[in-house]
Amino acid sequence: MKILVLGSGAREHAIILALRAESSAHEVLAAPGNAGIADEVAIAHGPDGAVLNAEDPAAVTIFANEHAVDLVVIGPEAPLVAGVADALRERGIPVFGPGRAAAQLEGSKTFAKRVMEAAGVPTGRAVRARTRDEVAAALDDLGSPHVVKADGLAAGKGVIVTEDREAALAHAETYLPSGAVLIEEFLAGEEVSLFFLSDGDTVRPLSPAQDYKRLEDGDGGPNTGGMGAYSPLPWLAERFGSEAAFVDLVSETVAEPVIRQLDAEGTPFIGLLYAGLILTEQGVKVIEFNARFGDPETQVVLPRLVTPLSELLLAAASGTLEDQPRPEFADLAAVTVVLASEGYPAGPVTGRPITGLDAAATVPGVHLAHAATARDGDALVATGGRVLNVVGTGEGFGEARDRAYGALSAIRLEGAQFRTDIAARVAD
Ligand code: AMP
Ligand code: GLY
Repeated sequence: MKILVLGSGAREHAIILALRAESSAHEVLAAPGNAGIADEVAIAHGPDGAVLNAEDPAAVTIFANEHAVDLVVIGPEAPLVAGVADALRERGIPVFGPGRAAAQLEGSKTFAKRVMEAAGVPTGRAVRARTRDEVAAALDDLGSPHVVKADGLAAGKGVIVTEDREAALAHAETYLPSGAVLIEEFLAGEEVSLFFLSDGDTVRPLSPAQDYKRLEDGDGGPNTGGMGAYSPLPWLAERFGSEAAFVDLVSETVAEPVIRQLDAEGTPFIGLLYAGLILTEQGVKVIEFNARFGDPETQVVLPRLVTPLSELLLAAASGTLEDQPRPEFADLAAVTVVLASEGYPAGPVTGRPITGLDAAATVPGVHLAHAATARDGDALVATGGRVLNVVGTGEGFGEARDRAYGALSAIRLEGAQFRTDIAARVAD
């Protein structure tokens, strides 16, 4: 199969590694990719010789047609919002990723709340505010801790959770000029990321993961795109009897109703529904949806996937997911630790060299997923905030963690930041 993967992060590198591990017969291409992805597969270029612009619907469609691509996999949200999936689908090219309308599930928190309400999906109360006075009234109504969110795409950084009313107001004021903000009820409990493949009608769950959103150990510091993750979540069995029972519950109460609702509205969701959940004392509630694979959760979910990924993605893209059995996962612990640049998330320092990757990759059970790297002559340099993911797998979390952190200790990047407590709570 000829597969074009759009995106440039560790999530896309993880998708590519899974496709490559599954079959050497696949021809995989990527755009724009990164240094790690370019070591693995060919980077797609347009007729002008420049790297294919993954956010240009016409350019991607022409490329896919001319190169007889069998499947396009859209990694990040930006091409979805730009309408790349719509353009491909119009030309009959199988694409894994929702159209612009359905992708609003991620792009607009107001849209997501409306769909959840219509579908009867459990979520916290939320108020949309356009002025400082409306914000203040909503903060007082919903109470502390305060949750304030930008209403558009903010790469996980548009959210503040704080007991400080002034900080909540100040955060809202930075986003009010660009539109409305959402003030939400605070939901207390464990956080779980659960992914569902959807062909617009049928839904198939993947295995749950937990993401570490805060920058610092012990969940201190600001929210980030995600500093690490692990999968599976052994403690789910204690609470729900088994992982399968939990997954079934979320399928029935969250994923299936949302997919049905979007279909009924004429905007079927074809791609990956990412349910961000909080296990409250009142039950499982949704805090957010994303319209794409999570990053860094994908880096720990896909290495455990036994069912061929290409078959699942193609079935979702072509409306035949019903014929696919439920995806199977290996009984393996997976841990990923994110290496981030100095200054991330507020103002990452870029351009610094990274060394020690070869030594890190020799640790048994370890592989690397590049997030923001580029070649500069012979050197590898960091080009963004989240630079690299070290992924460790093992029979148990103790082993997976030791491997990931052992490999990480071989890597050098001046000023680098990483958390030291990823998956510590489940390590044996
Ligand atoms: P989001 O961008 O909506 O995923 O929010 C980022 C993070 O903020 C989430 O992963 C949670 O840890 C936290 N958060 C967001 N909304 C809420 C909420 N309503 N209650 C508690 N924590 C929240
Ligand atoms: N890990 C959070 C996200 O992908 O949005």
